[in-house]
Amino acid sequence: MLILLVIVILLTVYFNTHDNTYAPGCGTSPRVDYYTKLLNDSSEESFNRVYTGDRAEIGDWPWLVRISVTFRNDSLSLCTGAIVGNTWILTAAHCLHSGDIKYTSISYDSVEINPITNRIAYASKYFVHPNYTTPHKSDDIALIQLQSTIRFSDSVHALCLGRNIQPVAYETTFAVGYGREFRGHRRMDPVNYAREAMMDTFLGEECKKNEKIVCTFGYNQGTTKGDSGGSLMVIRDNRFYSIGVVSMGSQNSITNVMSEVRSFYTRTSAYCDWISETTAQQVKCDDKTFDINYLLL
Ligand SMILES: *[C@@H]1O[C@H](CO)[C@@H](O)[C@H](O)[C@H]1NC(C)=O
Ligand SMILES: *[C@@H]1O[C@H](CO)[C@@H](O)[C@H](O)[C@H]1NC(C)=O
Ligand SMILES: *[C@@H]1O[C@H](CO)[C@@H](O)[C@H](O)[C@H]1NC(C)=O
Repeated sequence: MLILLVIVILLTVYFNTHDNTYAPGCGTSPRVDYYTKLLNDSSEESFNRVYTGDRAEIGDWPWLVRISVTFRNDSLSLCTGAIVGNTWILTAAHCLHSGDIKYTSISYDSVEINPITNRIAYASKYFVHPNYTTPHKSDDIALIQLQSTIRFSDSVHALCLGRNIQPVAYETTFAVGYGREFRGHRRMDPVNYAREAMMDTFLGEECKKNEKIVCTFGYNQGTTKGDSGGSLMVIRDNRFYSIGVVSMGSQNSITNVMSEVRSFYTRTSAYCDWISETTAQQVKCDDKTFDINYLLL
């Protein structure tokens, strides 16, 4: 009887610890199939769907987190971030300002802000890129280490990082965040759910010159304040990869062309060494190469 009890306890411990490290693989989501089909279908109907932007659905963005930073003066700053390891969140440096943070809560496992169902983790340490400068926002990238480990599952896991994820001209990219919606140039009320957008990369002068940024344009679609820190994503081999971190939102950069919105991002692949050093190799970019010729058709 005692032996049986010991076996049951050992089995329980075994499955619980193994459940902790369970991971369906970075960057996997039902949204991969949806967007692959959508991009493959060039009909006008599918273009129009994209044009208006979509409200994100539960389970679509397993790495998506909402970051609430409470400063010592009790003011609050809201940002978006991505789970890149079970104790690590990738975000923008400007979300963490110059310090003086009282605490930071990270809501995950939901695309909707719901204090009852959202799961919350707290930050233990902040790593702002050492070369981040405020006025120009260069090197606008940061990592947050969590106090506790996030248990991975189908609906909660990491976004992929890759050393060879580089922008290709006019490639379609995806972003999801909690920022306010823009209608024309008017900023709408804050929302309590995440919205997703599709934008194309462009390689204009400043983007060609600077290998540490990614630039996108979208029709009525861009990223805005609360989206800061979220990842701009591309699909490679049926997985989502981070290609950029939302840095300068479109409120500064709406062009004269009505409804064409330009946004700027910190190029994730330029920071692979910094990410692996900062996380003591717990988070690493993969070295895979991809056949992207089909993107250039
Ligand atoms: C894309 O469309 C073509 C032609 O309709 C089809 O043969 C192909 O299987 C599609 N690919 C994907 C990934 O859906
Ligand atoms: C509180 O502190 C933050 C960060 O230092 C600053 O950005 C914000 O403007 C301050 N808010 C108030 C109301 O003083
Ligand atoms: C910061 O910038 C300096 C000068 O450009 C460079 O040598 C250094 O590697 C940068 N630091 C990191 C962590 O990238």
